[in-house]
Amino acid sequence: MNSDEQNTGLGSWSRRRFVQMGAASAVVLGAMNSAHANADEATTSGTMIDVPFDKRNPRVAFIGTGGRGTNLLENLLAADGQVVALCDLVRDHAEHAASLVVKAGQAKPQIFADDPYAFEAMLAKDDIDLVLVATPWSWHAEMAIAAMKHGKDVCIEVPGVVTLAECWKIVETSEQTRKHCTMLENCCYGYNETLILRMIHDGKFGDLLYGEGAYLHDLREELFSDKGEGLWRRAEHTMRDGNLYPSHGLGPVANYMNMQRGDRFGYIVSMSSPQRGLDQYRKEHLHPGDPRMEERYVAGDMNTSLIKTAKGLTITVKHAVATPHPYDRINLIAGSKGIFQDYPPRIYLDGQNKDESYMPLESWKQYAHPLWVKEGQLAAKLGGHGGMDFIMLYRLLQCAREGLPPDMDVYDAASWSAVGPLSVSSVSRGSAPVDFPDFTQGKWMQRNISPIASQA
Ligand SMILES: NC(=O)c1ccc[n+]([C@@H]2O[C@H](COP(=O)([O-])OP(=O)(O)OC[C@H]3O[C@@H](n4cnc5c(N)ncnc54)[C@H](O)[C@@H]3O)[C@@H](O)[C@H]2O)c1
Repeated sequence: MNSDEQNTGLGSWSRRRFVQMGAASAVVLGAMNSAHANADEATTSGTMIDVPFDKRNPRVAFIGTGGRGTNLLENLLAADGQVVALCDLVRDHAEHAASLVVKAGQAKPQIFADDPYAFEAMLAKDDIDLVLVATPWSWHAEMAIAAMKHGKDVCIEVPGVVTLAECWKIVETSEQTRKHCTMLENCCYGYNETLILRMIHDGKFGDLLYGEGAYLHDLREELFSDKGEGLWRRAEHTMRDGNLYPSHGLGPVANYMNMQRGDRFGYIVSMSSPQRGLDQYRKEHLHPGDPRMEERYVAGDMNTSLIKTAKGLTITVKHAVATPHPYDRINLIAGSKGIFQDYPPRIYLDGQNKDESYMPLESWKQYAHPLWVKEGQLAAKLGGHGGMDFIMLYRLLQCAREGLPPDMDVYDAASWSAVGPLSVSSVSRGSAPVDFPDFTQGKWMQRNISPIASQA
């Protein structure tokens, strides 16, 4: 590898494509790289790769106790998490959440409410170790950065952060403060996802070649509702055309492929279909004088992105929330010896299937993840997204209580989040290829696989 390749960490394809992309693209890439003007400063603080949590039973605070925050809280309480403070713009939301904490037998948490910046006062308290952020997307970065600057580890809900500058900012802040910033990507903890991860690590699929993930979920009714996400999420469709919510599909595939751990996302090509779904829905459901009839939606109904990794693997990521479609994350991984695809879960392994038909996943239940073997019954009873919410939070607390590094870290959060702005950039330039920044600054090459693969 020559020095150019070492600098980019991408190998010869990167330089070759850079030339192919021409001067216009180079200008855009230059602008994107300037979004991390402080990246060199960040590296002088040292990487957060494999840095363990401070070993303790963390005192947890929430920012955002709406639909998702409440669901996270219930699962955290079921895992005996201790909750000491709650913040929400709407006091009733925080009060309801506090009642759940009291019902679980804990003291009433302190409440911070009624002001969009009430979280600042909460974060200044010194009896909080870990903050969970479940607010609208535009708040995630600001809240996460504030939490770290106040000396707290922080976990942000998906889709993580929104802009490339925010991706760099969470990395820099994490490295400078030595606090973790991870993404609460529950889909990485699903029964199927963790089982398949273990089969991959046992070589059952051979050398991995390609994967596919998606978020195909008909949210039209929710987007036009007058509560919860209906109050803010539809606006995202007026601002950007690209993949607005990539990580539910991408996160598990990234884990299968060891992204940031010997490989990384190289470049992305993205295209969007026309937008029809939200226009049609409001025409059928709103009165002609409704102010929402004036909104202009720019996000195409189906965004399809292709990612090429540094080692040449390919990933397809799709996003569609404004058209009729049964829920589907696709969750496909394929290698030289076989393929798994979800919805419904099915496996095809070279020489082991009859008549070119898939096997059901149950045939491989000996690979069930130890977390699911141990906690699966309780997880299923609690029910959050089939139990994956509980498993994720149980595991998060386990990492903190045992002083382990988090399964996924700030580099994963930044790389998965970056698919949003990079897909927008590619779509806006006629599906031109756009390079991913290397948030690890080259350290992806030396790193070990994520501990999620085998931990109980
Ligand atoms: N991982 C998952 O499966 C999953 C599922 C649903 C939502 N989410 C994510 O969770 C986040 C929250 O979504 P939701 O469905 O709970 O939305 P929601 O609208 O139901 O809740 C958001 C809450 O944040 C509060 N809030 C807004 N601004 C605030 C501020 N400045 N300070 C404090 N509180 C503030 C609101 O009052 C509300 O209670 C989003 O990022 C969403 O994408 C993830």
